[in-house]
This record gives sequence, structure tokens and C-alpha cells, in this order.
Amino acid sequence: MLQKIIVTGGCGYIGSHTVVELISNNFEVVIIDDLSNSNKKTLERITKITGVCPSFEHIDLKDIEKTKSIFKKHNDAVAVIHFAAFKAVAESVKEPLMYYRNNLLSLINILEFQIEEGITNFIFSSSATVYGAPEKLPITEKNEVQRPFSPYGNTKKIAEEILEDLVKTSSNLSAISLRYFNPIGAHESGFLGELPNGIPNNLMPYITQTAAGIREELHVFGNDYDTKDGTPVRDYIHVVDLAEAHLKALQRLLNKEQEKPLEIYNLGTGNGYSVLEIIKSFEKTTNTSLNYKIVKRRPGDVEKLYADTTLAEEKLNWKCKHGIDEMIASSWKWEENLKNEQ
Ligand code: UFG
Repeated sequence: MLQKIIVTGGCGYIGSHTVVELISNNFEVVIIDDLSNSNKKTLERITKITGVCPSFEHIDLKDIEKTKSIFKKHNDAVAVIHFAAFKAVAESVKEPLMYYRNNLLSLINILEFQIEEGITNFIFSSSATVYGAPEKLPITEKNEVQRPFSPYGNTKKIAEEILEDLVKTSSNLSAISLRYFNPIGAHESGFLGELPNGIPNNLMPYITQTAAGIREELHVFGNDYDTKDGTPVRDYIHVVDLAEAHLKALQRLLNKEQEKPLEIYNLGTGNGYSVLEIIKSFEKTTNTSLNYKIVKRRPGDVEKLYADTTLAEEKLNWKCKHGIDEMIASSWKWEENLKNEQ
């Protein structure tokens, strides 16, 4: 019998790529998703790639009774991978309560009912945003955690604190929190990728939509930072590498290899690229010319963020396989496929 994994937010960007990875490695997957920022069509896309359609539960994890009954129904699961969350930084600044309510109530409900049902393994989608504006680079897991600029970021910080407290109780919970840097890219098939609702907030979907003619012009938010070309530096990581890291974290939990009940890992490549470098690389890889203009800084943007990935490499036995050109080429292939679907 296959081991069953509950994946919340499995129809979303990182969740769906992780579901593909899990199915390809012989796990049975149950997706819980409220489809608030994703699409049921993702199930077809996953099926097209893997030949298997995962089970799907359409519920809002803020709903206590429904969450309780779904965990009862699937109490033969061996782990939960929790992606479901709101993630738009600017929106969270405007609607902080909506973010705290959604991201924290759902987390609390999941943890309560998975523990009640004896499902003791938990993987959490965290973010490099918990490092705030770091003084030391590259960022190791020992870097100080700072109050993130946005309520969205703060929900990630608070969630890790909740986990920290919970593993100290007799809950038997074993948890791994994965701090993502900047996920981009798409599945190599071109059938699965990022599908932002409305105007994208993040750089890569904004670039591909501009190149596809959906957006008129890309705005580069500031070129007066203290970086190689004045634009901010980020650690972009291929979503398929990120998905594979979840599989490795899961195997570590299932094999009981953890050294602490809550482990935390940075997931990045260790390489920093500026916004202009990404644009140049996009133009070169896709042989297109991008319409962009430099505008003023976006409030809350950090100058430089890139990871030290030593810990994840050592303990999860994981290393990124894809370089920046592959990330960009796969993002573009996905965007072009989407256009052809219309
Ligand atoms: N950028 C632009 N123009 C755009 C969009 C982005 O110039 O239209 C720039 C930003 O100023 C930044 C870089 O591209 O310098 C990357 O921006 P993203 O919005 O793609 O990503 P961020 O690094 O701001 O945020 C990401 C995640 C957050 C997470 C954060 C953690 O989206 O969820 O990393 O560091 F909190």
C-alpha cells in the first residue's frame, strides 16, 4: 500500500509541483485546497504529467468542523505538507487581519486535527522573508530572525514560533520548516507552472506576461541599491528543485532521521542575481526584447538576499540541479503554452 500524504494548497504553484514529485515517487496524495488562488484544472495538469489524479478535498481550512472531519477521513495519512496560504506582500499590508486570520487559523486547525488523528509529521512552507534585511550574507539558518516588513511575512515568522512551542509539548509532532528564497520556473513538460491571479506581484511572471504582450511594460523597482548594477539581488530557485527538497524533507521525517523535533532549512541555490541580470538572461534565453523601465523603489524591498545552502545539502542530501537559464526557459515555455491554451 502506498503511503498517503496530505498536501494543503496542492493546486497552487509550489504545491502542485511537489504533488508531481510525490506521485512520481510512489506516494498517494490527497490535496486540500479552497481554490481561492488556484484552479481545479491543475488536477488535470498533474494527471497529464504523472498519469495519476490525486484525491481532492475542496475545503476552507479556517472551517474548524470541516477540517476536523477531513483529517478524520484521512487519518491513515503519514504526513502533512502545508502550502495553503495567502502570499501577496502588498495585499497583506492593506489587509493584515485577512492575512493573520487565513494563514494562522488554518495552520492552527491543521495542527490540532492532525495531532488528534495521530498524524505526527509536518512540513511547513516558510520564507526567507523571516530574515528581514540581513546584515550577514550569505544567509545561514543561524542568521537572526527579524520582524518581517509585511503582515504576510510575519505570518511565516509567527507560524514557525507556533511550531517551536508545539514541538515542546507532548504532541509527538515532528516538523520541518523550509524557508524558500525566490521560486521561479515551471515543470519541464510545460504543463504546470505559476498562474498568478490578476496582475503579478513577482518578477518572473511579470517578465513572462510582458514578453507575451499581456502587460505593456515591466517596472524595475529602483536602480540605486548598493549592488553590482544598482538593482536588488535575489536567490532564484527552480520550483522543481524546491519540490524535490520537500520530498527529501519528507523522507527524513518518515525515516526518523531528524535531530530535533523542529528543523529549519534554507532552500535557495546560493547564487544571487540582480533584477537587470534576470532581464538580460531572459532576453538572451528567449531571444526576445523586453519592454522595461526603471521606476522608484518598491517600499519594503530588501537590497540583497541569498542563501547559504550547506545545511540542506548536508542534512536533506539535496542540491539544486537547475541553473538560471533553465529556470527562465521553463517559465517562458509555460507562458507560451498558456497562450496556446486560450
Ligand atoms: N521586481 C521588479 N518589478 C516587478 C516585480 C519585482 O523590479 O514588477 C523586483 C523587486 O523589486 C525585487 C525582485 O524583483 O527586487 C524580486 O521581487 P519579487 O516580488 O519577485 O520577490 P521578493 O523577493 O520581493 O519576494 C519573494 C516572495 C515573498 C517572500 C520574499 C522573501 O515573493 O513571498 O521573496 O524574501 F516573502
